[in-house]
Amino acid sequence: MDLIIDKFDDNLKLREFAARHHIPAVSDISSPKLKYLVTERNEQFLFKDLRRKKAHFFSLDLKPMNIDKIFKSNFSKCFLSLDKNLQVFDSTAGLLNDSVHIANMGFKVTAVEKISWLHEVMKKELDIARLGDSVLENIDLQNGDSLKLAEIMRPHVIYFDPVFDLKKKATAKQPMELLRSIASNKNSQDYIEQFLDCCSERLIYKRHKKQKSIFQKFITFSVTGKSVAFDVYQK
Ligand SMILES: C[S@@+](CC[C@H](N)C(=O)[O-])C[C@H]1O[C@@H](n2cnc3c(N)ncnc32)[C@H](O)[C@@H]1O
Repeated sequence: MDLIIDKFDDNLKLREFAARHHIPAVSDISSPKLKYLVTERNEQFLFKDLRRKKAHFFSLDLKPMNIDKIFKSNFSKCFLSLDKNLQVFDSTAGLLNDSVHIANMGFKVTAVEKISWLHEVMKKELDIARLGDSVLENIDLQNGDSLKLAEIMRPHVIYFDPVFDLKKKATAKQPMELLRSIASNKNSQDYIEQFLDCCSERLIYKRHKKQKSIFQKFITFSVTGKSVAFDVYQK
């Protein structure tokens, strides 16, 4: 059980959200088996990691991008030389950090998230952030399985950022930690095989530096940073 609501939380929006996504209501939220408590305040969904001693509620809001990071990061290097009219498909939308980055580089992005409650929360956050940043209009966030959608859409560029499958627990900020505990991608090789077949220009795969590359002979170039590496497959 990853996400729960407090049985005694008397908030209609929260109850409707929980019902839509089959999130259970629990009377004893002190059980060590439970991971995240969700609540709603002022139109925003908030989360608390019940496994932490000094836990506090946090949101999944979209932070404005640091202008320097837009074109100077390793991530941007993977998009160099790509025509801005190409359609980018973010197959693992998550918290939308990377989709926001891609949109800021001038591309239109279709971002797909398979977890329905996460899609709803991020759609709401995106709508709020769009009020102050029109670039975000270039992100089309959809709920579904990107393997199926990529097959139908056949996009020019596919970006794939699976949850890292590492034995040693990495220290991440709370929202990313939440993603890591609720989502898993065990079959990256299958994803890459299918995405290579679906995209017409480029596949970009983000992996932990310590994880091995997949289908090495098809990699055109890699960009390696302190902890993360990107493998770029040019068609
Ligand atoms: C490591 S996170 C991606 C983080 C994201 N790049 C960001 O900037 O926030 C991986 C996300 O992909 C989602 N995911 C995994 N498999 C998927 C699939 N087949 N279709 C759509 N989303 C998927 C997971 O639920 C998770 O939210």
